[in-house]
Amino acid sequence: MKILVVGSGGREHALCWKLKQSPQVEKVYCAPGNGGTRLVAENVPISEKQISELVKFVQQEQIDLTVVGPEEPLAHGIVDQFRAQGLKIFGPTKAAAIIEGSKAFAKDLMAKYKIPTADYRVFSNAKEALAYLNEIGVPIVIKADGLAAGKGVVVAFNMDDAVAAVNQVFSSGTHQKVVIEEYLEGEELSLMAFVDGETVIPMPLAQDHKQAFDGDLGPNTGGMGAYSPVPHFSQAFIDQAVEQVLKPTAKAMLAENRAFTGVLYAGLMITEKGLKVIEFNARFGDPETQVILPRLAGDLVDILLACVNHQLDQIEINWNEQAALTVVLASPGYPGPYPTGNEITGLEALAKFDDLEVFHAGTVYDGNCIKTAGGRVLAVTGLADSLEQAQNRAYQGIHHLNFYGMHYRSDIGNKAINQRIS
Ligand code: AMP
Ligand code: GLY
Repeated sequence: MKILVVGSGGREHALCWKLKQSPQVEKVYCAPGNGGTRLVAENVPISEKQISELVKFVQQEQIDLTVVGPEEPLAHGIVDQFRAQGLKIFGPTKAAAIIEGSKAFAKDLMAKYKIPTADYRVFSNAKEALAYLNEIGVPIVIKADGLAAGKGVVVAFNMDDAVAAVNQVFSSGTHQKVVIEEYLEGEELSLMAFVDGETVIPMPLAQDHKQAFDGDLGPNTGGMGAYSPVPHFSQAFIDQAVEQVLKPTAKAMLAENRAFTGVLYAGLMITEKGLKVIEFNARFGDPETQVILPRLAGDLVDILLACVNHQLDQIEINWNEQAALTVVLASPGYPGPYPTGNEITGLEALAKFDDLEVFHAGTVYDGNCIKTAGGRVLAVTGLADSLEQAQNRAYQGIHHLNFYGMHYRSDIGNKAINQRIS
């Protein structure tokens, strides 16, 4: 089989790496890919935005299956366009990807189908939104409706920030609605599942670290590190989350004529009042994928095909007992502006270790060496029998690596390692 992975981040490198291990796969392509995907796939210089070009490429090369990493092409209907040409593609249609693309849609869906989430109101003009803010006060969460590349959410602890956030949403010109949401406190978890429209098979639980700095301080990022399993949450908790959130959501999407096929990602917050959904994503998480896929025991191709062919109820998915922990190495200044084009050293030294995988995100090979090309540059995943050991391996690995201004969190996994099973 020939497979195309669409995207260019650490998630896509992990997908290419796992797909390449399948005995069914003859060749993996990645469009556009990065400096790391070229080691396991052939990079194709077509951006994820050029959907018609991707269709042509897949037809020309007779590619059997396309796997979409990022949200943007999904929201633009890449799956619909591929299906219209009779091409096999893994991911939700435009109608289903709206669960990530519109916060207002996701909130209304949860309210209608009684899926636990924070209280909220949706407004389509600043005046009414500001009046509501005055009534409800802070702390409060302001969410722009529509894709915002992780930048659409402001958790405001004072009125000035809350007002500025609402004004920002409506002055940007790209958003027509704002969601104003009850502030929740608790631990965040990522629970993803494979879904074929009807059948839902959860992946193991993972925990992301969204803030830029140690101790969950600083601005929100795409994710600075992750680990799986999350041993301080029991299997009973996961089962409950699957029954209360993932299964009813897949069912709700069916009932709304928006059958969801692909990876459904629930961002959960564990509050004193129980679990609540913070957000849905319509794709694999990044960097969660860099710890989940190394734990997948079987062939990823079988699972993706079962989703696409609506046969997920006919397969079994097994996970290994290993713990995986990944630390993101970022460019200086990320998530704000950052420099690019700086040489990365030390990658060869890590290639020989079986218990370390370096997944590239913002990197490029310039024909001579690997250079930085994005905010999140690399994700270094350690694999071991325990989370502590996986954490040690990841941080030991990082000591070999360097690029100008490289920064990373030094506390990835500490929440689990410092706790007992609840
Ligand atoms: P989202 O893009 O909706 O996942 O939001 C980004 C981040 O903002 C989340 O990972 C949380 O850390 C934070 N956040 C979102 N909604 C809430 C909420 N209702 N209460 C507290 N924090 C939130
Ligand atoms: N790691 C969070 C996300 O993929 O949205």
